[in-house]
Amino acid sequence: MRKLALIACAALALVGLAANAAEEAGLRMAPAPDNRLDIASLQRGARDFVNYCLTCHTAKYMRYNRLTDLGLTPAQIKSSLMFASDKIGDTMTVAMREDDAKTWFGNPPPDLSVEARVRGRDWLYNYLLGFYRDDKSATGWNNLVFPNVGMPDVLWQLSGTGKRVEKEFDNEESAEAAAIAVKGLAMVEPTKDHKYTMVSIAPDAPGTMTRAQYEAFVGDIVNYLDYMGEPIRDERIHLGMIVLIFLGVLFALAYALKRDYWKALH
Ligand code: HEC
Repeated sequence: MRKLALIACAALALVGLAANAAEEAGLRMAPAPDNRLDIASLQRGARDFVNYCLTCHTAKYMRYNRLTDLGLTPAQIKSSLMFASDKIGDTMTVAMREDDAKTWFGNPPPDLSVEARVRGRDWLYNYLLGFYRDDKSATGWNNLVFPNVGMPDVLWQLSGTGKRVEKEFDNEESAEAAAIAVKGLAMVEPTKDHKYTMVSIAPDAPGTMTRAQYEAFVGDIVNYLDYMGEPIRDERIHLGMIVLIFLGVLFALAYALKRDYWKALH
């Protein structure tokens, strides 16, 4: 019986893995900038998150006063990050009702408190770079990382708009090579007749930011989302190091003591 249960578990795990792999299949993502310890970037990310995302999404496991971790004073948090009615001990919620959101967007905007732990930094970064115009979708937008997503490209005025570009290749290698040459988000899909299509996003109309500025802007938001997923992480890593140093010193002392005790016997 136990064996059977074990086999069932292993089979389930495999199915899960396969599903995951299928979801990401063929997608080449650009790595998100690694700036977790950059406080200025986290502060900008918090500001931009409040201005551009908190209108629809919540972060109901995150309290405003926790942002003092990022070197902001309560006065700064109140004046530049909070709407007048919020108290500093409040969590980051929005006034939009879930059923309204559902009618407007098809799917309600999910809570983003721990989103970075579900999706990871790279996924989020590419998701925010992955929007393109699509007249066939209800919002007028689509996304290379999250096909048919219900979220419109809320940052298009900054980034400018993009359009989907498809190129067909006879074999997978040349399609992959073309995807690598894009040096950013791209996807390779098998099409009929054993051909392969490389999909990428090309700029259509410029926004108020240059590409580099926009990538840095999105990098800050992702950084903040990552921080919010586990605000205590840096403290945990510091504490872990102190514990390891302590254990190291303790080992040295214990070893010296042991040698001293055994000296007489050798
Ligand atoms: C106009 C409302 C609106 C705004 C503003 C908005 N979103 Fe969304 N977002 C949505 C909706 C609706 C969905 C659900 C889409 C779906 O599941 O099809 C969504 C989904 C997402 C998802 C995918 C969640 C998942 O894992 O399924 C992420 C990540 C996300 N939004 C991040 C952001 C960020 C970051 C911002 C700020 C830059 C932002 N959103 C601003 C409406 C919005």
